Amino acid sequence: MKGLTVLLVDDEPLMRLSMMDALEAVGCEVQAASTGTEGLEAIREKTYDVVITDLRLPGVDGLTVLQTAKGKEPQAEVLVITAHGSVETAVEAMKLGAFDYVTKPFQMDELLLIVERVGGMIALRRENQDLKHQLEDKFCFNGILGANSQMRGVLDKIKLVAETDSTVLIVGESGTGKELVANALHQNSPRKGYPLIKVSCAALPETLLEAELFGHEKGAFTGALRQRRGRFEMANRGTLFLDEIGEISPVVQVKLLRALQERTFERVGSNEPIETDVRLVCATQKDLRKEVAQGRFREDLFYRLNVVPIIVPPLRQRQEDILVIAEHVLETCSAKLNKQLRGFSQPAHELLLRYSYPGNVRELENMVERAVALGRDGTTVQPADLCGLQSCPYLGGVPQESCGFCSEGLTGGKKKKDTTLTSLAAAREGFEKNYIVSVLERVDGSRTTASKILGLSRKALWEKCKRYGIPSAHREVEETES
Ligand SMILES: Nc1ncnc2c1ncn2[C@@H]1O[C@H](COP(=O)(O)OP(=O)(O)OP(=O)(O)O)[C@@H](O)[C@H]1O
Ligand SMILES: [Mg+2]
Repeated sequence: MKGLTVLLVDDEPLMRLSMMDALEAVGCEVQAASTGTEGLEAIREKTYDVVITDLRLPGVDGLTVLQTAKGKEPQAEVLVITAHGSVETAVEAMKLGAFDYVTKPFQMDELLLIVERVGGMIALRRENQDLKHQLEDKFCFNGILGANSQMRGVLDKIKLVAETDSTVLIVGESGTGKELVANALHQNSPRKGYPLIKVSCAALPETLLEAELFGHEKGAFTGALRQRRGRFEMANRGTLFLDEIGEISPVVQVKLLRALQERTFERVGSNEPIETDVRLVCATQKDLRKEVAQGRFREDLFYRLNVVPIIVPPLRQRQEDILVIAEHVLETCSAKLNKQLRGFSQPAHELLLRYSYPGNVRELENMVERAVALGRDGTTVQPADLCGLQSCPYLGGVPQESCGFCSEGLTGGKKKKDTTLTSLAAAREGFEKNYIVSVLERVDGSRTTASKILGLSRKALWEKCKRYGIPSAHREVEETES
């Protein structure tokens, strides 16, 4: 109990002194208060590990002390002392979150035993939190959590390339964390004291995007009522982040190429060249090589942008990150929503690991946030809290089109269009095929690993793949596509 900070609130001087002596003798750091009001003041000034309060106090009573202590610091533990025969108040105190109670008259050893119990629990909680923070420090860089080896590679690359002025192209599915990567690149660069300007290229039509990027003169086009600086100018000496770069039109592609090659540009409606010193970071969900091959994206621009590519893998390919991120979101959301959940249940963990996250980290975040919002204090998150639908087949119910787990979960993001009812055999086959595809995806196409997970012999897996038309070179298909 060494170092446990205790606030003791009792109006009986003799009791207070003897409790203080006993607690100090076992290593607690004790602060005493002789009235409820004094107790509240002490709580306001400092956070205590444990508050021990008599319930019956003149003026402000013990229940108020309890509520104030818990309100300020939910992790503070409160022990209450009740008079003989007033168990009802003690029960009420327990309902309000007291750890335990003792009834007067009591032996000092009885109190010490409870304090020892509470001290043990607090120590364990601290140890867990320390471990969690150590893990987070190890696996976190500028808010990007990544325990998976590919993600470690991404983080290492960010650290290396951030210091340079090289143009970076971040590629990844929606919700994989591309914007976080762009932020980290800027924040760790020598340009961090200057602006990081973001433009979503998909959000604007061609002419507006051009004006947005390069600015315009008064009267350059209908609606251009005054001169306006563009994002390139605003980002001067800083970083310009062009999101969804795969969406820009051929005209804007040419202008962008010129700005990159010559480091100058003109505002729309002006011939005056403006010099620019920006570090360009772009992001896309598209395979730009494919866009080039199909004539939709200029090859010369692609090479200018793809100086340092950073590929952010989809969450389903980095299983190790799922629980790390889920635990982190649970903690931050709980703090934000002032909830005290006791973590995920084992089945919830299993469900989290089994799902394929077509919406990637964003979807995982939303799932956990919903579970926290709907969860009750003191309980653990259950599969149903994550899925949101009681009838999810994973939970023993009937498949539903609107349920992420059933309609998208195992098919890698493509919603089933055909909702016609089929025989059980056909439904079972559909499930089997999708599940095999999903497992193969998650083990990078390794049939040996997949067969072990599925509990099939390699031959049986091979036969099923053949029967369902699952391509044998699953991995090759994935790699050339990304
Ligand atoms: N590795 C990660 N660790 C912690 N949080 C993450 C991680 N990756 C993504 N997130 C969170 O997931 C959400 C989506 O991330 P972000 O907006 O960066 O994705 P994106 O790839 O830019 O998505 P989109 O293509 O849809 O714009 C954000 O709330 C972000 O904080
Ligand atoms: Mg984004």
